[in-house]
Amino acid sequence: MSFPTPASFPLARPRRLRQSAWIRDLVAENRLHASDLIWPIFVHDRDIAREPIGSLKGVDRLSVAEAVNEARLARDLGIRVLALFPHLNEKIRTAGAHAAVDPNGLIPQTCRAIKAAVPDIGLLVDVALDPYTDHGHDGLLIDGKINNDKTVDMLVEQARVQVEAGADIVAPSDMMDGRVLAIRQMLEKDGHQDTLIMSYAAKYASAFYGPYRDAIGVKALKGDKKTYQMDSANSDEALREVAMDIAEGADMVMVKPGLPYLDIVRRVAETFRMPTFVYQVSGEYAMIRAAAAQGLMDEDRAVMETLLAFKRAGAAGILTYFARDVAEKLKG
Ligand code: PBG
Repeated sequence: MSFPTPASFPLARPRRLRQSAWIRDLVAENRLHASDLIWPIFVHDRDIAREPIGSLKGVDRLSVAEAVNEARLARDLGIRVLALFPHLNEKIRTAGAHAAVDPNGLIPQTCRAIKAAVPDIGLLVDVALDPYTDHGHDGLLIDGKINNDKTVDMLVEQARVQVEAGADIVAPSDMMDGRVLAIRQMLEKDGHQDTLIMSYAAKYASAFYGPYRDAIGVKALKGDKKTYQMDSANSDEALREVAMDIAEGADMVMVKPGLPYLDIVRRVAETFRMPTFVYQVSGEYAMIRAAAAQGLMDEDRAVMETLLAFKRAGAAGILTYFARDVAEKLKG
């Protein structure tokens, strides 16, 4: 972008635009609304309404009934979309991730319950096998390797049962090759032409997912996810990943994690001009909470600053565990 040469001091005094709240508001280039936020919630298959998640202070695992209450609260706060994540009993997790394709599984149950009670809220579901495998990987381990194509077959089935239960947006977070196309073809064939796909298109292998693993109950991940998630050294590769997912039928794309990858958010948003989302992940949340708890910085201000940074970088919306708190503040 090129600018006309700005006037110089004292004709220009940039501070004139900062002298009081009303003028700062008037010239603000970006603004945050509750409708920019997607609120990730964790559901569990136990009778307990709420159970705190040790690694994510302020976030609880919820029973299905409590998730419905949260959906009502979200709607009343102006949050338009919830993202659902399951925490399953260990006995249900298998090498074959069978529970992922169970039409009566926890996520399909949750989708049905929320859609029945709060039909006007959008439901985003994660498509990946890690909450369902006994080893915690997003794909099927065959002969010690994550098998791409067999995993994709499972993901298609997982997406199908979730969509049949009422999910509006399927969000493949697994980073297998070709999964967007396979899911899109299934949706077309089965009469789900209006179902949206938000692909975790540029998802990096990140230390910042640490607290999430605890949230969904992955005990000890064998190895790491570097054979499918991206290398944090790379940026052009993100554009190739995003281009492929759009060509395969994604309606919206996501970059993940958030703050350490703002440059990617910017490049993706500018290059493709598609609705681009960003996930402020569990580690980013936990970091701010921990620093605020130690009195090192003001939590509300820090959170708002990060969310505005995402919008400034070009994000259409943000998945964040702060969604409820922020929506409450925006309302108040
Ligand atoms: C799994 C998935 C992960 C997250 C969302 N879906 C973790 C991972 O890939 O290991 C991370 C969310 C977070 O850290 O908040 N497919």
